[in-house]
Amino acid sequence: MKTGSSDRPVRLKVDHLGKVFGEGEQAVCALQVVNLEIRQSEFVMIVGPSGCGKTTLINIIGGLEQQTSGDVLLDGHMISGAGADRGMVFQGYSLFPWLTVLKNVEFGLKMKGIPAQHRERTARKYIRLVGLEGFENALPKQLSGGMKQRVAIARTLANEPEILLMDEPFGALDAQTRVVMQELLADIRRKTDTTILFITHDIDEAVLLGDRVYVMSRRPGSVREVLEVNLPGERSHNSLVLPEFLEIKKKIMDMLWRESNDAAMGR
Ligand SMILES: Nc1ncnc2c1ncn2[C@@H]1O[C@H](COP(=O)(O)OP(=O)(O)OP(=O)(O)O)[C@@H](O)[C@H]1O
Ligand SMILES: [Mg+2]
Repeated sequence: MKTGSSDRPVRLKVDHLGKVFGEGEQAVCALQVVNLEIRQSEFVMIVGPSGCGKTTLINIIGGLEQQTSGDVLLDGHMISGAGADRGMVFQGYSLFPWLTVLKNVEFGLKMKGIPAQHRERTARKYIRLVGLEGFENALPKQLSGGMKQRVAIARTLANEPEILLMDEPFGALDAQTRVVMQELLADIRRKTDTTILFITHDIDEAVLLGDRVYVMSRRPGSVREVLEVNLPGERSHNSLVLPEFLEIKKKIMDMLWRESNDAAMGR
């Protein structure tokens, strides 16, 4: 946790956001009055019951989906549609299978019209940052799941977005690879000061990576609680057994348990 984060400017503001899919009897209210704020260089996590609207929320912020009510502001400007200022990483790797690692990472820069030499230099920098030096000429099919997700992260970072939006990016990885990727992301964050909004089902992941955790209620999703995460020392897999870690983890587990229990009891 960095000190003084409350002095930093607010980068992303989600203000009274609501989303209803469909109309009439078929209408599904996915989000009901969601408010959140992310300051420069903050790592903010969202957890919540399955189907509570997490993906809907991040898709609206990313401009892939249109809200029914409320606003999303990036640096004080209302967003409308997708933009290179928001970089998205999903659970699926969405790499181009016919392109090498280098060409995949260069892709967005090529689309922006960046000259070949410059984009190769930038791509190589981010490939190094995610620990894939030596794999520049490999094709996605030659890589493990964790390595593919490293490429996806490098590709998104290479576009130098204002904010990184991640929807369960490590959800498809095995437990060990997941921990390695979590440490990698914590390291990238230290080195690049990126502002990150990250959705996860995994409470350990939320507490390990987050400066703040938003716990959502079940559908229609709203913010149930916001928890600050203050852990001593640098975050690593060793943090998972700290008393401070376990205390926050238990709070979140209790909240999520109450949400699913209330749902099961029809409350
Ligand atoms: N395009 C759509 N049309 C109709 N309903 C939708 C659409 N997309 C999502 N929904 C509904 O909105 C609700 C929220 O879905 P969403 O995918 O955002 O939840 P989630 O919290 O990401 O779930 P999970 O934890 O399983 O990933 C669900 O009830 C879902 O069925
Ligand atoms: Mg989802």
